[in-house]
Amino acid sequence: MTELAGATALVTGGGTGIGRGIALALSDAGATVAVLGRSREPLEQTAKLISDAGGSASVVTADVTDSASVSTAVRTVVDRHGSLDVAVNNAGILTATGPLTDIDEEHWDRLLTVNVTGVMLSMKHELRQMTAQGSGVIINVASSIGAHKTLPNMAAYGATKAAVVALTKAAALDHVAQGVRINAVSPGSTDTPMSLRPGETEDDRARRLRAALPLGRVGRVEEIAAAVRYLASPDAAFMIGQTLVLDGGSAA
Ligand SMILES: NC(=O)c1ccc[n+]([C@@H]2O[C@H](COP(=O)([O-])OP(=O)(O)OC[C@H]3O[C@@H](n4cnc5c(N)ncnc54)[C@H](O)[C@@H]3O)[C@@H](O)[C@H]2O)c1
Repeated sequence: MTELAGATALVTGGGTGIGRGIALALSDAGATVAVLGRSREPLEQTAKLISDAGGSASVVTADVTDSASVSTAVRTVVDRHGSLDVAVNNAGILTATGPLTDIDEEHWDRLLTVNVTGVMLSMKHELRQMTAQGSGVIINVASSIGAHKTLPNMAAYGATKAAVVALTKAAALDHVAQGVRINAVSPGSTDTPMSLRPGETEDDRARRLRAALPLGRVGRVEEIAAAVRYLASPDAAFMIGQTLVLDGGSAA
């Protein structure tokens, strides 16, 4: 029997990249996985990968910046599958904003709205269901960059991911007595298009990271997903409000 057999999991931003890898890992652990995003097609592809591997998946479309849409998505998942046991708030965007003197306020607002308000709204609606059930696990996706170390021109993105770590701790303390366990992961540069700089090829990135990272390579989506699978499992029952950093030693 796998550790999440009978559980229902929700993964925001589950149509691509790290979110897709997390959805596959939670399915492998036995959960029925609902993948959430704005456009149906990539979500359907993740769902097909899961069903081709013998798992069970469904698709919900929602924008994490829109409270009503997230609320409806959570209700849809519970109506379809009966509960919400694991939620992974992975949806996010990355853009370099330049130094503070040049920061464009619209750009700043967009990053905060998706990366911070999106995680807050997702947790709010997931927690309403989980506290009513009296159980649940939430894992937020922060970032090594920003939350644990900094890079030039990344002040806005960094501020959003530090906020995700702070929200994780606060929500974890507020809801632990109601049976909900909340933690986060902070990936470093991981093998998705998000970690490519403008105009950079995968070979360029490999060269850059060989020099920049103690481990000398980009992280694999499966390595981030394995940490999320652990945090979702009963093995992590004593971990509350923490963030696992998986970044090849970059923040060490
Ligand atoms: N790739 C990396 O190197 C890296 C490093 C550290 C942290 N992260 C974080 O990991 C997460 C996943 O990133 P990724 O690399 O897989 O990139 P990605 O662009 O493939 O994934 C982000 C997902 O979020 C979805 N999304 C964005 N805005 C949304 C919204 N308003 N509503 C619903 N869905 C929305 C996108 O459609 C996409 O599926 C992000 O939170 C990112 O900040 C990535």
